Amino acid sequence: MFLKTPLSEIINRETGEMATPDNVYERPLSAMADMYEDAEAVKAALDGGDPVIYKVYEKTVPQLAGELQWCMSVTLPGKIGREYYMTKGHFHEVRNTAEIYLCVRGQGYMLMETEEGETSAVEMRPDTAVYVPAAWAHRSINTGDEPLISFCVYPGDAGHDYGSIETAGFKKRIVEIDGRPTIIDNTVK
Ligand code: F6R
Ligand code: ZN
Repeated sequence: MFLKTPLSEIINRETGEMATPDNVYERPLSAMADMYEDAEAVKAALDGGDPVIYKVYEKTVPQLAGELQWCMSVTLPGKIGREYYMTKGHFHEVRNTAEIYLCVRGQGYMLMETEEGETSAVEMRPDTAVYVPAAWAHRSINTGDEPLISFCVYPGDAGHDYGSIETAGFKKRIVEIDGRPTIIDNTVK
């Protein structure tokens, strides 16, 4: 499978759709309900129809160290209570694997942390790239009012480890306070 130019033949920058994905999945709120801080806001949103929070369009490649897996990650705009829509977030199963996100639309943050407790939040905006170093968990958060769309590339053998994020969450959250995205400590779990 070879990439071809121009890029517009492969991805739609407005929607994040890939021309011929091998795999497409959506995560609704119900798939990550206990990751948000405000349980009542979660319940209200679920009662209101379980919104889709994000979508991923993937190309599949052999799951080998020498291969490059690539995909489009589309986090929709919205909030649950005061907390912005976000991806579940994960470590790579093979810790020694990094990732590059090239943001093509929208605005937000890449929230990252290590198992040793370091944290970082890097701004995402169109035509900027975020480098997620090896062994850093990562979650993208949409703080704008349009889809946050990135082209992601990572080693074919990386895999996804959602375990510790599902049980312990990230150390930080990004919420709207006084109309602005604000990074706060996660005191809920
Ligand atoms: C792959 C990667 C992204 C995410 C996507 C969805 O390593 O970081 O493609 O998989 O943004 O987020 P998660 O996987 O956290 O549900
Ligand atoms: Zn990743």
